[in-house]
Parts: sequence; structure tokens; C-alpha cells
Amino acid sequence: MFEKLKEELDSIMDRDPAARSRIEVYFLYSGFRAVRSYRRANWFYRHNMKFIARWISQRARHKTGIEIHPGATIGKGLFIDHGMGVVIGETTEIGDNCTLYQGVTLGGTGKDHGKRHPTLGDNVMVGAGAKILGPFRVGNNARVAAGAVVLSEVPENATAVGVPAKIVRVNGAKVYNLDQIHMTDPVAQELSRLQSEILNLRHKIGTPSQTEPEAGCGTR
Ligand SMILES: CC(C)(COP(=O)(O)OP(=O)(O)OC[C@H]1O[C@@H](n2cnc3c(N)ncnc32)[C@H](O)[C@@H]1OP(=O)(O)O)[C@@H](O)C(=O)NCCC(=O)NCCS
Repeated sequence: MFEKLKEELDSIMDRDPAARSRIEVYFLYSGFRAVRSYRRANWFYRHNMKFIARWISQRARHKTGIEIHPGATIGKGLFIDHGMGVVIGETTEIGDNCTLYQGVTLGGTGKDHGKRHPTLGDNVMVGAGAKILGPFRVGNNARVAAGAVVLSEVPENATAVGVPAKIVRVNGAKVYNLDQIHMTDPVAQELSRLQSEILNLRHKIGTPSQTEPEAGCGTR
């Protein structure tokens, strides 16, 4: 048991440059406290003592500002940094060594029943204020940018950014998102280039353009 506790404390020390000692993490880190309460609540939840489970988790929420449903499934080494405003829904699954910052929601969209919250792989980082909504997977080592709203699957080793989130990096390499709706029409671009070339030539040889207004027309 002490070995496990030491492991959890060390995994936080490794990821937070501000953490000075295990004692500091143990007594002062609200994320650490919330995860420990979750582990107790989850035991009661799995042993069908759902009221006690919810009671423990709500008490932890009052003390830490972090709400973790006791029915969530959480692997080892979860680090919730700062913590305030974090919400983790009932059917959420979180792999090992994930990091969540303040204001993160792992929630549902309200459209799904049963499994309705996301599944995070191992070593996933979710930035401050990000919302991941729906029953899809966020792959191992993925990074979700601060403030992103993720509504669909994120592949392994990818970075998701923006609202709604788009994949901008996979394995560190840039991903080009082609916007099929707002992209410019290449034929229209070429026609416009030809039109301005014709206008230039007409100006050069002194022939007024049919599309140009007559001198003085509409200027008074
Ligand atoms: C996304 C993040 C993890 C960086 O991941 P990365 O894979 O190294 O990606 P990059 O830094 O190369 O950024 C990729 C692109 O996304 C953009 N981007 C990064 N973070 C962004 C954000 N939060 N919102 C919008 N765009 C963002 C970058 O400008 C870059 O754009 P470009 O491709 O046009 O240059 C990091 O920016 C982030 O948001 N971390 C969260 C940290 C946090 O919450 N800290 C709170 C501490 S209290």
C-alpha cells in the first residue's frame, strides 16, 4: 500500500516542477486528495453501496472543487493539477499516468445513454478548461489544448486544438486541415486573375473597359 502511495506521489512530483516534496503533495495538493477520495468512493460503488460512494465523492467536491463520479474507471498515476472545476462523469475511463488541468470536463453531450463519457488512453494530457464530450476514445499520448472542445475521436500521439477541436499534430508533425466548405474555387481565382490582366492591358492601350464606369458616372 505504501509502495502504491509513494508511486502516486512520485508520478505527481515528476510532472509538476512546482512540487517540492512528497509531504507537500500529500497535504496540499487538492488533485491528489480528490483522487484518493475517488479510490475510496469507487470501492463502495463497486460493492453496491452507491449512497456512501456518492457521499464521499460529494464531500471531496466541497473540499477540492473536483467532482469525480465514483463509477468512473481511473488507472494509476492520474494527476489533476490545480483542480478547481474539474468534472469527470460516471462512464468515463482514464488510462495510466494522465494529466488534467483545472476546468476540464470529461462529460456527455446529453444525447447518449449508457456509456456516454469519453475514454482516455495512457499518458493523455488535457489542458486547462478543455471539454471532452461524448463516448469516444482519446488515444495514448494524445494532447488536448487548453480551451478545446473535443467532440470526436482523437488518434494516438495527436494534438487536438480549438472549438470544435481539430487535429493539428500527429507524432509531432503538422496536419493540414482542408476546409472543404470555405476553400477558394481555383477556377474562379484563375478567371479573376485573367480579368484583371485584361483590364491592365486595356488601360495600357487606352481602350475603356466595358465593365468600367463611364468617366463622371456616379461620381457626383
Ligand atoms: C496544445 C499544447 C499541449 C501543445 O501541444 P503541441 O503538440 O506541442 O502543439 P504546438 O505547441 O506545436 O501547437 C500546435 C498548434 O496549435 C496551436 N495551439 C496550441 N495551443 C493552443 C490552444 N490552447 N488553443 C488554440 N491553439 C493552440 C499552436 O499555435 C500551433 O499552431 P500552428 O500549427 O498554426 O503553429 C499546449 O499548447 C497546451 O494547450 N497545453 C495546455 C497546458 C495547460 O493547460 N496549462 C495550464 C497550466 S495552469
